[in-house]
Amino acid sequence: MIERTLVLVKPDGVQRALVGRIIQRFEDAGLKIVGMKMKWVDADFAKKHYAGNVGKKFYQFLENFIISGPVIAMVLEGVSAVEVVRKLVGVTEPKGSAPGTIRGDFAHTSYDHADENKKSISNLIHASGNKEEAIAEVMLWFTEKEMHTYRTVHEVHVF
Ligand code: CMP
Repeated sequence: MIERTLVLVKPDGVQRALVGRIIQRFEDAGLKIVGMKMKWVDADFAKKHYAGNVGKKFYQFLENFIISGPVIAMVLEGVSAVEVVRKLVGVTEPKGSAPGTIRGDFAHTSYDHADENKKSISNLIHASGNKEEAIAEVMLWFTEKEMHTYRTVHEVHVF
């Protein structure tokens, strides 16, 4: 039940100075940060991270966006962390994300708007889509030495 998942604060979140407020959402829910770094990825790394999207009609816009500035990468740990993080983040298109989710509270744009402007949708976060993706993405972004084992109060009061 205890899982690890990868979360990125994308270049729009970093440049809008939302990093602290976004991390706060995850900490408030009791998720544990076991790894964190700032990284400016290149096109080769983007193709590895978005391997499942390479070839899709929006891929080049997505790559341009993710390499446009540094991102904050985190490994979060918790009970059913993959599903819980996706719930906190909201659906991929901010226009449809519920208030109370990160995308619903801090963004509102749509696929149509992004397509019209020939850019990727600015949706602040990437979060692993399922358990298999989470395992692969955590391994791509972090070495074992970059992740840490420690106790939080949440393991006593929240888990
Ligand atoms: P992310 O969670 O980073 O993973 C895949 C990304 O592809 C997703 O966020 C969106 O930014 C992007 N994406 C998915 N579907 C579409 C789409 N139909 N049009 C444009 N971008 C998309």
